[in-house]
Amino acid sequence: MDKLVIHGGRRISGTVAASGSKNSSLPIIAATLLAGKGTFTLHRIPELHDIATFTQLLQHLGVETTFTNNTLKVSTENVQSILAPYELVKKMRASIYVLGPLLARFGEAKVSLPGGCAFGPRPIDLHLMAMEKLGAEIRIETGFITASVKGRKLHGAHIDFPVSSVGATGNALMAAVLAKGVTTISNAAAEPEIETLCHFLSAMGADIKGTGTTELVIEGVETLQAIEFTNVFDRIEAATLLAAAAITGGSITLNGVEPSQLKAVLKKFVHAGCLISTENSSVTLKSPEQLLPTDVTAKPYPSFPTDMQAQWIALMTQASGKSLITDKVYHERFNHIPELNRLGAHIEIKNNQAVVHGPRKLSGTTVMSTDLRASASLVLAGLVAEGVTEVLRVYHLDRGYEKIEMKLNALGAKISREKYKEFS
Ligand code: UD1
Repeated sequence: MDKLVIHGGRRISGTVAASGSKNSSLPIIAATLLAGKGTFTLHRIPELHDIATFTQLLQHLGVETTFTNNTLKVSTENVQSILAPYELVKKMRASIYVLGPLLARFGEAKVSLPGGCAFGPRPIDLHLMAMEKLGAEIRIETGFITASVKGRKLHGAHIDFPVSSVGATGNALMAAVLAKGVTTISNAAAEPEIETLCHFLSAMGADIKGTGTTELVIEGVETLQAIEFTNVFDRIEAATLLAAAAITGGSITLNGVEPSQLKAVLKKFVHAGCLISTENSSVTLKSPEQLLPTDVTAKPYPSFPTDMQAQWIALMTQASGKSLITDKVYHERFNHIPELNRLGAHIEIKNNQAVVHGPRKLSGTTVMSTDLRASASLVLAGLVAEGVTEVLRVYHLDRGYEKIEMKLNALGAKISREKYKEFS
């Protein structure tokens, strides 16, 4: 396995380009299944484990793909299977994204149940509810979701999500674009990744109204075509890089971003004492002498993202006082806290709220990644810790951060990747 060895105490400063978004790449790649012919050319797709897993899943279905220099070419003409097997789904929950497109195009799908997750229960009931509303019959048996549609064609419906769900909204959208009639989705997720999916589907020929809002109206069309498309930036990677500069007292300019999508996060950086300036497609952050304590509550977009909560906790270990961090999306997403405390942080969990007591001098030790964003928080802590921090199980980080140590090293960090063996 790989670990990252971080020599802490160095400033992160300079200019860096944001990578393409992982969480918008996945539904876009899934949506290619909706087209019966032609080849898609998708630019700015990040080179990440999750993308590799997802393209592997599509290849398993019979899809042809090639990936060079962040451009993914996809041809979905010869799909031969509608089965997403356990071996691939268990690696990545987002595999459930094939359910909607397969049902819409073929009238049937069989997808392994995704199973548990490192930071609490992550049900898929809303995905299934949406498919049923659109006319699918769903059976759960032998660990699989087996879905089929009478007459092979979904029909329009009114879907009202009781909880805002990115994945369920994406799946419902991808199913509805080829359904017969009109579908309305209320309380749809309005995350930029869903907005991007709407733009992508519309460019393919779908009829979607309300893009970027929580009320979507979709009029089904007969066919969709293959297109060329450029993905958006990764707002979580971008925010993490800003935090890397802020936690080390550095200054950073991020290029290739859309500042409006970072609004909630930038507001918190300002509250923490950072100077922020934005241009059309860049953000610059200058750190203060001393970070100020700043509470955050993670909620659906446009609020502060749950995927940045762990990194914010790491940042607040260096602020002058007490910060309260709450996660309203995943109430128990706090696996990173014991590991941050092993580095010298003082963080308590009280009533599902993290109480971060700063500033604390962190000192390097060996810590374990437990999930993607938890790993990012450990890397941030390692950057400011005295001495050497070793972050084990880096495969979690590799799921979502493109060339992270290269990017950070170019900005002044000293991080190496080394192999190690885990005792079992
Ligand atoms: C996506 C992101 C993930 C992010 C999350 C919340 C991808 C690949 N992943 O995950 O990084 O942390 O959004 O912004 O884009 N829920 C249900 N039933 C369901 C589905 C969800 O109750 O059927 C609940 C979840 O438990 C959670 C909330 O809805 O509390 C939001 O989850 P959701 O937006 O669906 O997360 P994902 O799409 O899985």
